[in-house]
Amino acid sequence: MNYPKNILMVNPAHYDVVYQINEHMNLEKKVDKELAKTQWLSLKKIYTELGFKVIEAPGNEEFPDMVFAANQLFTTPEKVFLSQMKYPERKGEVQFLQHFLKLHKAVQVNASFESMGDLLWDYEGERLFGGYGYRTDLAAYDEIKKVIDTEITTLELANARFYHLDTCLSIINKNTALFVASAFSEKTKKTLQQHFTELIEVDEQESLEYLACNAHCPDGKNIIIEQGAVKLQADCERVGLNIHTADTSEFLKSGGSIFCLKNQGWF
Ligand code: ARG
Repeated sequence: MNYPKNILMVNPAHYDVVYQINEHMNLEKKVDKELAKTQWLSLKKIYTELGFKVIEAPGNEEFPDMVFAANQLFTTPEKVFLSQMKYPERKGEVQFLQHFLKLHKAVQVNASFESMGDLLWDYEGERLFGGYGYRTDLAAYDEIKKVIDTEITTLELANARFYHLDTCLSIINKNTALFVASAFSEKTKKTLQQHFTELIEVDEQESLEYLACNAHCPDGKNIIIEQGAVKLQADCERVGLNIHTADTSEFLKSGGSIFCLKNQGWF
């Protein structure tokens, strides 16, 4: 299947860290809002220059985390699924975006499910990988499998620092993926090895400090990587990808980076 050409991003005007729902968030580390805006605009520009259509949704003061647009919706060429956010602080974001995008026929998932934070497309292989354990329940994938035919390989997450699958697995194409070794059990690592012939291990320090594995390859050729993750940039260059870098320091304070800040899909 083709890589989708639409990218949804939520304006960061109301982005902030005002509660703690993951290990990265710390109320003492203040967000520089001006800098956050600049960083977000630079990321948006990268997608635009790569030829993607960026749909910009407005922010809302009630939802400081809504800027992490990976989490509210999951799309396939035929269907749209709505998340069941784990924490009450974020639940209202789903309806807000559903309304903005006029998604009248979307399917509500009832078990805990945080969309593209945990459910990742391998567009080329036409298959899905679903993380569970922190934000998404395994039962969510049973609900989704009742509606679509695509195979979903489920992966148990085992390290609270990597609470969404998109923080520890980044899919490049049907053979290649980046992963954080300490985020998975031995058994789950074997599952990954069975599915990807080229598994690139992300440096532990870079994955902790820069959420390096939250890099995003939107088309199989280009990859957007946190600017601090220099080892990962070199590794991706070696496998022939075009490297683009983004500074996401203000979003890392909330436990999110590049992949989290957008939703790629069929809108
Ligand atoms: N503060 C947000 C949360 O904890 C960050 C979400 C990051 N999103 C992601 N797809 N990993 O929910």
